[in-house]
Amino acid sequence: MSLPSPAPGHAAHATHASHPDLRALLRDTAPLAAETPVAEVAERMLDTRDASLLSLPIVADGRPIGSISRYELMRIYLTPYGRELFGRRPVASIANREALVLPLDMSLDEAARRIAERIASPITEDFILVDAQGRHAGTGVVLDVLRAMEARLAQRSTELEQAYSRVKSSQLQLMQSEKMASLGQMVAGLVHEINTPLGYVRNNVEMTRAALSDTAPLLRAFERMADGGALPDGDGGELAVLRSRVDSDFVEDTLGLLDDTLHGIGQITELIGHLRNFSRLDRAQTQQVELDGLIDAAVRILQHVMKKRGIELRRHRGPVPPIECAPAQINQVLLNLIGNAAQAIEHDRGRISIRTQVLGRRAIVVIEDNGKGIAESDLERIFDPFFTTKPVGQGTGLGLAIAHQIVEQHGGIIRVASRPGVGTRFIVGLPLPASTSGERT
Ligand SMILES: Nc1ncnc2c1ncn2[C@@H]1O[C@H](COP(=O)(O)OP(=O)(O)O)[C@@H](O)[C@H]1O
Ligand SMILES: [Mg+2]
Repeated sequence: MSLPSPAPGHAAHATHASHPDLRALLRDTAPLAAETPVAEVAERMLDTRDASLLSLPIVADGRPIGSISRYELMRIYLTPYGRELFGRRPVASIANREALVLPLDMSLDEAARRIAERIASPITEDFILVDAQGRHAGTGVVLDVLRAMEARLAQRSTELEQAYSRVKSSQLQLMQSEKMASLGQMVAGLVHEINTPLGYVRNNVEMTRAALSDTAPLLRAFERMADGGALPDGDGGELAVLRSRVDSDFVEDTLGLLDDTLHGIGQITELIGHLRNFSRLDRAQTQQVELDGLIDAAVRILQHVMKKRGIELRRHRGPVPPIECAPAQINQVLLNLIGNAAQAIEHDRGRISIRTQVLGRRAIVVIEDNGKGIAESDLERIFDPFFTTKPVGQGTGLGLAIAHQIVEQHGGIIRVASRPGVGTRFIVGLPLPASTSGERT
Protein backbone atom coordinates (compact mmCIF):
# COMPACT_ATOMS: atom_id res chain seq x y z
CA MET A 1 0.00 0.00 0.00
CA SER A 2 1.48 3.34 -0.99
CA LEU A 3 1.59 6.15 1.50
CA PRO A 4 0.22 9.38 0.17
CA SER A 5 1.78 12.19 2.12
CA PRO A 6 -1.01 14.63 2.87
CA ALA A 7 -0.53 18.01 1.27
CA PRO A 8 -0.44 20.98 3.66
CA GLY A 9 -3.97 22.13 4.30
CA HIS A 10 -5.30 18.72 3.42
CA ALA A 11 -6.49 18.20 6.98
CA ALA A 12 -8.26 21.55 7.12
CA HIS A 13 -9.97 20.78 3.87
CA ALA A 14 -11.07 17.39 5.10
CA THR A 15 -12.52 18.89 8.29
CA HIS A 16 -14.54 21.37 6.31
CA ALA A 17 -15.75 18.78 3.84
CA SER A 18 -16.74 16.44 6.63
CA HIS A 19 -19.28 18.95 8.01
CA PRO A 20 -21.26 20.01 4.98
CA ASP A 21 -24.70 21.53 5.59
CA LEU A 22 -27.95 21.36 3.69
CA ARG A 23 -27.24 24.44 1.58
CA ALA A 24 -25.57 22.20 -0.99
CA LEU A 25 -28.79 20.24 -1.44
CA LEU A 26 -31.16 23.21 -1.76
CA ARG A 27 -33.58 22.91 -4.67
CA ASP A 28 -35.25 26.07 -5.76
CA THR A 29 -39.01 25.48 -5.72
CA ALA A 30 -41.86 27.91 -6.14
CA PRO A 31 -44.00 27.29 -3.03
CA LEU A 32 -47.78 26.90 -3.12
CA ALA A 33 -50.01 29.52 -1.54
CA ALA A 34 -52.35 28.21 1.17
CA GLU A 35 -55.47 29.02 -0.86
CA THR A 36 -54.33 27.35 -4.12
CA PRO A 37 -57.11 24.94 -5.17
CA VAL A 38 -56.24 21.27 -4.97
CA ALA A 39 -56.92 20.78 -8.70
CA GLU A 40 -54.34 23.42 -9.55
CA VAL A 41 -51.83 21.73 -7.28
CA ALA A 42 -52.42 18.50 -9.15
CA GLU A 43 -51.53 20.32 -12.39
CA ARG A 44 -48.33 21.66 -10.78
CA MET A 45 -47.33 18.19 -9.84
CA LEU A 46 -47.31 17.24 -13.50
CA ASP A 47 -45.00 20.14 -14.28
CA THR A 48 -41.60 18.79 -15.30
CA ARG A 49 -39.91 21.40 -13.07
CA ASP A 50 -41.15 19.62 -10.00
CA ALA A 51 -41.21 16.13 -11.42
CA SER A 52 -38.43 14.91 -9.15
CA LEU A 53 -40.05 16.19 -5.95
CA LEU A 54 -42.21 13.97 -3.78
CA SER A 55 -43.96 16.92 -2.15
CA LEU A 56 -44.37 20.69 -2.51
CA PRO A 57 -44.21 23.23 0.27
CA ILE A 58 -47.21 25.38 1.19
CA VAL A 59 -46.26 28.83 2.36
CA ALA A 60 -48.10 31.68 4.06
CA ASP A 61 -46.38 35.03 4.68
CA GLY A 62 -43.10 33.55 3.49
CA ARG A 63 -43.19 30.77 6.10
CA PRO A 64 -43.96 27.10 5.46
CA ILE A 65 -47.18 25.92 7.04
CA GLY A 66 -47.12 22.40 5.64
CA SER A 67 -46.67 20.35 2.52
CA ILE A 68 -48.68 18.40 0.03
CA SER A 69 -47.39 15.17 -1.41
CA ARG A 70 -47.97 13.44 -4.71
CA TYR A 71 -48.99 10.44 -2.71
CA GLU A 72 -51.73 12.32 -0.87
CA LEU A 73 -53.10 13.77 -4.13
CA MET A 74 -53.08 10.35 -5.71
CA ARG A 75 -55.00 8.95 -2.74
CA ILE A 76 -57.65 11.68 -3.12
CA TYR A 77 -57.94 11.30 -6.86
CA LEU A 78 -58.28 7.56 -6.61
CA THR A 79 -61.24 7.73 -4.21
CA PRO A 80 -64.62 7.85 -5.97
CA TYR A 81 -65.53 11.46 -6.64
CA GLY A 82 -62.30 12.59 -5.00
CA ARG A 83 -61.58 15.15 -7.69
CA GLU A 84 -65.10 16.55 -7.51
CA LEU A 85 -65.13 16.65 -3.73
CA PHE A 86 -61.64 18.16 -3.19
CA GLY A 87 -60.72 19.86 -6.48
CA ARG A 88 -61.86 23.33 -5.55
CA ARG A 89 -60.82 23.27 -1.91
CA PRO A 90 -57.70 25.20 -0.83
CA VAL A 91 -54.62 23.02 -0.62
CA ALA A 92 -54.09 24.11 3.00
CA SER A 93 -57.12 22.03 3.97
CA ILE A 94 -55.42 18.79 3.04
CA ALA A 95 -51.84 19.83 3.87
CA ASN A 96 -49.53 17.74 5.98
CA ARG A 97 -49.01 20.15 8.88
CA GLU A 98 -46.28 17.97 10.32
CA ALA A 99 -44.02 18.33 7.29
CA LEU A 100 -40.33 18.07 8.07
CA VAL A 101 -38.79 21.56 8.13
CA LEU A 102 -35.04 21.83 8.42
CA PRO A 103 -32.77 24.90 8.56
CA LEU A 104 -30.24 25.42 5.76
CA ASP A 105 -27.31 25.41 8.17
CA MET A 106 -28.16 22.02 9.61
CA SER A 107 -25.37 19.48 9.12
CA LEU A 108 -25.87 16.63 6.75
CA ASP A 109 -25.43 14.13 9.57
CA GLU A 110 -28.09 15.75 11.70
CA ALA A 111 -30.47 15.98 8.74
CA ALA A 112 -29.94 12.31 7.95
CA ARG A 113 -30.73 11.48 11.58
CA ARG A 114 -33.94 13.56 11.53
CA ILE A 115 -35.08 12.06 8.25
CA ALA A 116 -34.36 8.53 9.44
CA GLU A 117 -36.52 9.18 12.53
CA ARG A 118 -39.42 10.24 10.38
CA ILE A 119 -39.02 7.99 7.44
CA ALA A 120 -41.91 5.70 6.62
CA SER A 121 -42.41 3.25 3.85
CA PRO A 122 -43.10 4.24 1.18
CA ILE A 123 -41.23 7.54 1.35
CA THR A 124 -43.88 10.05 0.41
CA GLU A 125 -42.37 13.42 1.30
CA ASP A 126 -39.25 15.44 0.77
CA PHE A 127 -38.47 18.18 3.28
CA ILE A 128 -38.72 21.94 3.43
CA LEU A 129 -35.66 24.11 3.88
CA VAL A 130 -35.84 27.40 5.76
CA ASP A 131 -33.34 30.19 6.42
CA ALA A 132 -32.17 31.35 9.83
CA GLN A 133 -35.35 33.43 10.23
CA GLY A 134 -37.60 30.48 9.45
CA ARG A 135 -38.54 31.78 5.99
CA HIS A 136 -39.08 29.32 3.15
CA ALA A 137 -35.91 28.78 1.12
CA GLY A 138 -36.68 25.76 -1.04
CA THR A 139 -37.00 22.01 -0.97
CA GLY A 140 -34.60 19.30 0.04
CA VAL A 141 -34.85 15.87 -1.56
CA VAL A 142 -34.46 12.78 0.62
CA LEU A 143 -32.66 10.95 -2.16
CA ASP A 144 -30.10 13.80 -2.38
CA VAL A 145 -29.35 13.35 1.31
CA LEU A 146 -28.80 9.66 0.77
CA ARG A 147 -26.45 10.33 -2.13
CA ALA A 148 -24.49 12.95 -0.17
CA MET A 149 -24.16 10.57 2.78
CA GLU A 150 -22.98 7.84 0.46
CA ALA A 151 -20.31 10.15 -0.98
CA ARG A 152 -19.23 11.12 2.51
CA LEU A 153 -18.97 7.52 3.60
CA ALA A 154 -16.82 6.75 0.60
CA GLN A 155 -14.59 9.72 1.39
CA ARG A 156 -14.41 8.72 5.03
CA SER A 157 -13.42 5.21 4.25
CA THR A 158 -10.62 6.49 2.01
CA GLU A 159 -9.50 8.75 4.83
CA LEU A 160 -9.65 5.85 7.27
CA GLU A 161 -7.67 3.70 4.90
CA GLN A 162 -5.01 6.40 4.64
CA ALA A 163 -4.93 6.89 8.39
CA TYR A 164 -4.67 3.14 8.87
CA SER A 165 -1.70 2.87 6.54
CA ARG A 166 -0.02 5.80 8.30
CA VAL A 167 -0.51 4.11 11.67
CA LYS A 168 0.79 0.87 10.27
CA SER A 169 3.95 2.42 8.93
CA SER A 170 4.63 4.30 12.14
CA GLN A 171 4.08 1.07 14.04
CA LEU A 172 6.70 -0.55 11.84
CA GLN A 173 9.06 2.30 12.57
CA LEU A 174 8.46 1.89 16.29
CA MET A 175 9.10 -1.84 16.13
CA GLN A 176 12.28 -1.03 14.30
CA SER A 177 13.32 1.47 16.95
CA GLU A 178 12.66 -1.01 19.76
CA LYS A 179 14.76 -3.49 17.84
CA MET A 180 17.52 -0.92 17.47
CA ALA A 181 17.30 -0.20 21.20
CA SER A 182 17.84 -3.86 22.08
CA LEU A 183 20.59 -4.08 19.50
CA GLY A 184 22.22 -1.06 21.11
CA GLN A 185 21.93 -2.76 24.48
CA MET A 186 23.53 -5.85 23.07
CA VAL A 187 26.39 -3.96 21.47
CA ALA A 188 27.03 -2.10 24.74
CA GLY A 189 27.09 -5.44 26.54
CA LEU A 190 29.46 -6.99 24.07
CA VAL A 191 31.80 -4.02 24.13
CA HIS A 192 31.97 -4.39 27.88
CA GLU A 193 32.49 -8.15 27.67
CA ILE A 194 35.21 -7.87 25.07
CA ASN A 195 36.98 -5.00 26.81
CA THR A 196 37.84 -6.99 29.91
CA PRO A 197 39.71 -9.85 28.23
CA LEU A 198 41.17 -7.44 25.71
CA GLY A 199 42.60 -5.37 28.59
CA TYR A 200 44.50 -8.23 30.18
CA VAL A 201 45.53 -9.76 26.88
CA ARG A 202 47.21 -6.47 26.01
CA ASN A 203 48.78 -6.19 29.45
CA ASN A 204 50.11 -9.76 29.33
CA VAL A 205 51.54 -9.29 25.86
CA GLU A 206 53.35 -6.14 26.97
CA MET A 207 54.85 -7.94 29.97
CA THR A 208 55.88 -10.91 27.88
CA ARG A 209 57.48 -8.61 25.37
CA ALA A 210 59.51 -6.89 28.12
CA ALA A 211 60.64 -10.26 29.49
CA LEU A 212 61.66 -11.51 26.06
CA SER A 213 63.57 -8.37 25.14
CA ASP A 214 65.84 -8.88 28.16
CA THR A 215 66.18 -12.60 27.65
CA ALA A 216 67.21 -12.54 23.97
CA PRO A 217 70.76 -11.01 24.44
CA LEU A 218 71.50 -13.46 27.25
CA LEU A 219 70.42 -16.35 25.07
CA ARG A 220 72.63 -15.09 22.27
CA ALA A 221 75.66 -14.93 24.59
CA PHE A 222 74.97 -18.48 25.76
CA GLU A 223 74.70 -19.60 22.16
CA ARG A 224 78.12 -18.20 21.39
CA MET A 225 79.60 -19.86 24.46
CA ALA A 226 78.11 -23.18 23.53
CA ASP A 227 79.54 -22.84 20.03
CA GLY A 228 83.01 -22.49 21.68
CA GLY A 229 83.33 -18.85 20.89
CA ALA A 230 84.81 -16.40 23.31
CA LEU A 231 82.74 -13.94 25.20
CA PRO A 232 82.98 -10.37 23.91
CA ASP A 233 85.05 -9.07 26.84
CA GLY A 234 86.75 -12.36 27.56
CA ASP A 235 86.12 -12.47 31.30
CA GLY A 236 82.40 -13.07 31.52
CA GLY A 237 81.69 -9.59 32.88
CA GLU A 238 79.14 -8.89 30.22
CA LEU A 239 77.50 -12.23 30.81
CA ALA A 240 77.00 -11.24 34.44
CA VAL A 241 75.46 -7.97 33.36
CA LEU A 242 73.14 -9.71 30.92
CA ARG A 243 72.34 -12.33 33.52
CA SER A 244 71.47 -9.68 36.09
CA ARG A 245 68.88 -8.17 33.78
CA VAL A 246 66.95 -11.41 33.50
CA ASP A 247 64.74 -12.66 36.28
CA SER A 248 64.07 -16.32 35.59
CA ASP A 249 61.04 -16.33 37.88
CA PHE A 250 59.67 -13.53 35.78
CA VAL A 251 60.35 -15.44 32.59
CA GLU A 252 58.63 -18.49 34.03
CA ASP A 253 55.70 -16.29 34.99
CA THR A 254 55.30 -15.21 31.41
CA LEU A 255 54.29 -18.77 30.61
CA GLY A 256 51.39 -18.34 33.00
CA LEU A 257 50.66 -14.96 31.45
CA LEU A 258 50.56 -16.55 28.02
CA ASP A 259 48.08 -19.14 29.27
CA ASP A 260 45.87 -16.33 30.55
CA THR A 261 46.29 -14.57 27.26
CA LEU A 262 45.17 -17.60 25.33
CA HIS A 263 42.18 -17.87 27.62
CA GLY A 264 41.35 -14.22 27.02
CA ILE A 265 41.61 -14.64 23.29
CA GLY A 266 39.38 -17.69 23.57
CA GLN A 267 36.81 -15.57 25.36
CA ILE A 268 36.93 -12.88 22.73
CA THR A 269 36.56 -15.48 19.99
CA GLU A 270 33.56 -16.89 21.79
CA LEU A 271 31.95 -13.47 22.08
CA ILE A 272 32.52 -12.77 18.43
CA GLY A 273 30.92 -16.13 17.75
CA HIS A 274 27.82 -15.06 19.69
CA LEU A 275 27.73 -11.88 17.73
CA ARG A 276 27.90 -13.83 14.51
CA ASN A 277 25.16 -16.16 15.71
CA PHE A 278 23.07 -13.19 16.62
CA SER A 279 23.42 -11.61 13.22
CA ARG A 280 22.47 -14.94 11.69
CA LEU A 281 19.43 -14.97 13.95
CA ASP A 282 18.31 -11.76 12.42
CA ARG A 283 16.39 -13.36 9.63
CA ALA A 284 12.63 -13.41 9.72
CA GLN A 285 12.34 -16.91 8.29
CA THR A 286 11.39 -19.73 10.58
CA GLN A 287 13.81 -22.37 11.65
CA GLN A 288 13.85 -25.35 13.97
CA VAL A 289 15.72 -24.17 17.05
CA GLU A 290 16.29 -25.13 20.64
CA LEU A 291 14.40 -22.85 22.98
CA ASP A 292 17.16 -23.15 25.56
CA GLY A 293 19.71 -22.05 22.97
CA LEU A 294 17.72 -18.89 22.34
CA ILE A 295 17.50 -18.25 26.07
CA ASP A 296 21.27 -18.72 26.39
CA ALA A 297 21.83 -16.15 23.64
CA ALA A 298 19.53 -13.63 25.32
CA VAL A 299 21.12 -14.24 28.72
CA ARG A 300 24.60 -13.68 27.32
CA ILE A 301 23.55 -10.37 25.91
CA LEU A 302 22.08 -9.24 29.22
CA GLN A 303 24.81 -10.76 31.36
CA HIS A 304 26.55 -7.48 32.05
CA VAL A 305 23.29 -5.86 33.19
CA MET A 306 22.67 -8.69 35.62
CA LYS A 307 26.26 -8.74 36.81
CA LYS A 308 26.17 -5.00 37.42
CA ARG A 309 23.05 -5.37 39.53
CA GLY A 310 24.39 -8.43 41.34
CA ILE A 311 21.51 -10.57 40.13
CA GLU A 312 21.75 -14.32 40.51
CA LEU A 313 20.52 -16.34 37.54
CA ARG A 314 18.95 -19.74 38.01
CA ARG A 315 18.45 -21.91 34.95
CA HIS A 316 16.40 -25.07 34.73
CA ARG A 317 16.44 -26.73 31.36
CA GLY A 318 13.63 -29.12 30.69
CA PRO A 319 13.79 -31.67 27.93
CA VAL A 320 12.14 -29.60 25.21
CA PRO A 321 12.19 -30.65 21.56
CA PRO A 322 13.20 -27.99 19.01
CA ILE A 323 10.53 -25.48 18.16
CA GLU A 324 9.64 -24.00 14.79
CA CYS A 325 9.96 -20.22 15.01
CA ALA A 326 11.53 -17.03 13.71
CA PRO A 327 14.55 -17.08 16.05
CA ALA A 328 15.30 -13.36 15.79
CA GLN A 329 11.81 -12.53 16.90
CA ILE A 330 11.67 -14.98 19.78
CA ASN A 331 15.07 -13.64 20.78
CA GLN A 332 13.58 -10.17 20.94
CA VAL A 333 10.76 -11.45 23.15
CA LEU A 334 13.21 -13.13 25.53
CA LEU A 335 15.53 -10.13 25.59
CA ASN A 336 12.69 -7.90 26.62
CA LEU A 337 11.23 -10.24 29.25
CA ILE A 338 14.61 -10.90 30.86
CA GLY A 339 15.60 -7.24 30.48
CA ASN A 340 12.36 -6.15 32.17
CA ALA A 341 12.96 -8.66 34.99
CA ALA A 342 16.46 -7.28 35.58
CA GLN A 343 15.21 -3.69 35.48
CA ALA A 344 12.49 -4.49 38.03
CA ILE A 345 15.02 -5.54 40.67
CA GLU A 346 16.06 -2.69 42.91
CA HIS A 347 17.61 -4.57 45.83
CA ASP A 348 20.82 -6.59 46.14
CA ARG A 349 19.24 -10.03 46.64
CA GLY A 350 18.07 -10.10 43.05
CA ARG A 351 17.23 -13.42 41.50
CA ILE A 352 15.91 -14.33 38.07
CA SER A 353 14.89 -17.87 37.37
CA ILE A 354 14.35 -19.14 33.86
CA ARG A 355 12.74 -22.51 33.38
CA THR A 356 11.82 -24.46 30.27
CA GLN A 357 9.46 -27.39 30.02
CA VAL A 358 6.84 -29.03 27.86
CA LEU A 359 3.22 -28.58 28.81
CA GLY A 360 0.68 -30.27 26.58
CA ARG A 361 1.38 -29.16 23.03
CA ARG A 362 3.53 -26.25 24.02
CA ALA A 363 7.11 -25.49 24.83
CA ILE A 364 7.00 -23.29 27.90
CA VAL A 365 9.47 -20.79 29.24
CA VAL A 366 8.87 -19.31 32.67
CA ILE A 367 10.77 -16.16 33.60
CA GLU A 368 10.46 -15.24 37.22
CA ASP A 369 12.00 -12.38 39.15
CA ASN A 370 11.90 -11.17 42.74
CA GLY A 371 11.70 -7.53 41.67
CA LYS A 372 9.25 -4.86 42.64
CA GLY A 373 6.25 -6.44 40.90
CA ILE A 374 3.42 -4.82 38.98
CA ALA A 375 0.55 -2.92 40.58
CA GLU A 376 -2.76 -4.67 40.02
CA SER A 377 -4.17 -1.63 38.26
CA ASP A 378 -1.26 -1.73 35.78
CA LEU A 379 -1.48 -5.44 35.03
CA GLU A 380 -4.05 -5.08 32.31
CA ARG A 381 -2.16 -2.27 30.63
CA ILE A 382 1.39 -3.59 30.45
CA PHE A 383 0.83 -5.07 26.99
CA ASP A 384 -0.51 -1.78 25.65
CA PRO A 385 1.86 0.02 23.29
CA PHE A 386 3.59 2.93 25.05
CA PHE A 387 2.60 1.84 28.53
CA THR A 388 5.69 2.25 30.65
CA THR A 389 6.41 3.10 34.26
CA LYS A 390 10.04 3.83 33.46
CA PRO A 391 11.51 7.31 33.15
CA VAL A 392 11.67 8.94 29.73
CA GLY A 393 14.61 7.60 27.79
CA GLN A 394 14.66 4.31 29.67
CA GLY A 395 11.43 2.71 28.60
CA THR A 396 9.71 2.80 25.26
CA GLY A 397 6.69 0.93 26.56
CA LEU A 398 6.80 -1.14 23.39
CA GLY A 399 8.68 -4.22 24.54
CA LEU A 400 5.71 -6.17 25.83
CA ALA A 401 3.39 -4.94 23.08
CA ILE A 402 5.82 -6.28 20.51
CA ALA A 403 6.44 -9.46 22.50
CA HIS A 404 2.71 -10.06 22.64
CA GLN A 405 2.37 -9.55 18.91
CA ILE A 406 5.27 -11.83 18.08
CA VAL A 407 4.07 -14.61 20.37
CA GLU A 408 0.57 -14.34 18.96
CA GLN A 409 1.90 -14.51 15.40
CA HIS A 410 3.65 -17.72 16.39
CA GLY A 411 0.35 -19.14 17.63
CA GLY A 412 1.59 -18.99 21.20
CA ILE A 413 0.48 -17.47 24.48
CA ILE A 414 1.99 -15.03 26.93
CA ARG A 415 0.76 -14.73 30.51
CA VAL A 416 1.76 -12.72 33.52
CA ALA A 417 1.28 -13.03 37.27
CA SER A 418 2.68 -10.53 39.70
CA ARG A 419 2.60 -9.46 43.32
CA PRO A 420 3.85 -5.99 44.18
CA GLY A 421 6.89 -6.22 46.41
CA VAL A 422 7.28 -9.96 45.80
CA GLY A 423 7.98 -10.48 42.14
CA THR A 424 6.70 -11.19 38.68
CA ARG A 425 6.32 -14.30 36.56
CA PHE A 426 5.97 -14.26 32.80
CA ILE A 427 5.06 -17.43 30.96
CA VAL A 428 5.50 -17.83 27.23
CA GLY A 429 4.12 -20.90 25.52
CA LEU A 430 5.03 -21.68 21.92
CA PRO A 431 3.46 -24.47 19.89
CA LEU A 432 5.54 -27.58 19.36
CA PRO A 433 5.79 -28.98 15.84
CA ALA A 434 2.99 -31.49 15.28
CA SER A 435 5.35 -34.48 15.26
CA THR A 436 6.73 -33.72 18.72
CA SER A 437 3.71 -32.31 20.56
CA GLY A 438 1.77 -34.33 23.03
CA GLU A 439 4.88 -35.26 24.98
CA ARG A 440 4.74 -34.58 28.64
CA THR A 441 7.38 -34.08 31.26
N1 LIG B 1 9.25 -8.18 35.29
C1 LIG B 1 8.61 -7.04 35.54
N2 LIG B 1 8.50 -6.54 36.81
C2 LIG B 1 7.86 -5.39 37.06
N3 LIG B 1 7.27 -4.63 36.12
C3 LIG B 1 7.32 -5.06 34.84
C4 LIG B 1 7.99 -6.26 34.49
N4 LIG B 1 7.86 -6.45 33.15
C5 LIG B 1 7.15 -5.38 32.70
N5 LIG B 1 6.82 -4.54 33.70
C6 LIG B 1 6.03 -3.31 33.61
O1 LIG B 1 5.45 -3.25 32.32
C7 LIG B 1 5.81 -2.02 31.70
C8 LIG B 1 5.87 -2.21 30.21
O2 LIG B 1 6.95 -3.03 29.83
P1 LIG B 1 7.53 -2.92 28.36
O3 LIG B 1 6.40 -3.02 27.40
O4 LIG B 1 8.65 -3.88 28.22
O5 LIG B 1 8.06 -1.44 28.27
P2 LIG B 1 9.33 -0.76 28.98
O6 LIG B 1 10.20 -1.86 29.49
O7 LIG B 1 9.95 0.02 27.88
O8 LIG B 1 8.77 0.11 30.07
C9 LIG B 1 7.10 -1.60 32.35
O9 LIG B 1 7.30 -0.22 32.29
C10 LIG B 1 6.89 -2.09 33.78
O10 LIG B 1 6.11 -1.16 34.51
MG1 LIG C 1 10.84 -3.51 28.29
